[in-house]
Amino acid sequence: MSTTIAAPPLAVGSAQSDASGIVTVPGVPSHVAIIMDGNGRWAKSRGLPRIAGHREGSRAVRRTVEAAIGYGVSWLTIYAFSSENWRRPAGEIHDLTGLLRRYLRSEIAELKQSGVRLRFIGDRTRFDADIQKDLAVAERDTVANSRLNLTIALSYGSRDEIAAAARAAIAAVNAGSLKADDLGEEAFAGFLATAGMPDPDLVIRTSGEQRLSNFLLWQAAYAELVFLDVLWPDFEDCHFSAALQEFSRRERRFGARKD
Ligand code: IPE
Ligand code: IPE
Ligand code: MG
Repeated sequence: MSTTIAAPPLAVGSAQSDASGIVTVPGVPSHVAIIMDGNGRWAKSRGLPRIAGHREGSRAVRRTVEAAIGYGVSWLTIYAFSSENWRRPAGEIHDLTGLLRRYLRSEIAELKQSGVRLRFIGDRTRFDADIQKDLAVAERDTVANSRLNLTIALSYGSRDEIAAAARAAIAAVNAGSLKADDLGEEAFAGFLATAGMPDPDLVIRTSGEQRLSNFLLWQAAYAELVFLDVLWPDFEDCHFSAALQEFSRRERRFGARKD
């Protein structure tokens, strides 16, 4: 069942700051994660090359970041490129990395200005050296920002991330800095790429597909999932608002009982 679209603007309460300093707005999820899917279908339906869909998708990213700030979302994590997307034809990979390069060069100054802190998760070593450098610079230049924590998953795969965390935990045990018995859920999460970030409350996937495609498998254990029929390049404020409203109607129990 996919959630339908078009909804009135979301009514939200005033912002509060919790003990950890995280700003929350009542009714609005603190952390929204988005699987931005459907660029190819968007282009195909218009008789355009896939790159046109990816380009339009990057405009949707800009709109979404602005909307997230407007709604008082503190953490936004977007899935831009999966570890499995390297299986795509070389031409599409080339187009996507070119778009990423341009996005980094054109958007960072504005994101910095808007109070956005950027992080990247995923295997960045698979990108060209100049892109790796731009990623590091973007993270460094926005480190003091806290209005919106924007994390972009690039060459990211959750299974790969969990295996890397297991290796890092084993290395810590072997080095004597961690006792195996102390490796609980919290300690293990500290070895993931998302260490220090709250878990997503809401995961949105566009394009009508209803799967996680190796995205935040550990972190989304109790996230609410909302699947939208809209293709990512067409994602607008009204779709974001509809997903937030759907979230606000869900009852989260975390395995406990409410009665
Ligand atoms: C999402 O759009 C972007 C990436 C995965 C890089 P797709 O390229 O997957 O678009 P569809 O699913 O083929 O329509
Ligand atoms: C998931 O979309 C990855 C991103 C949106 C970056 P895909 O289009 O790669 O996922 P599948 O192949 O349909 O599962
Ligand atoms: Mg897809």
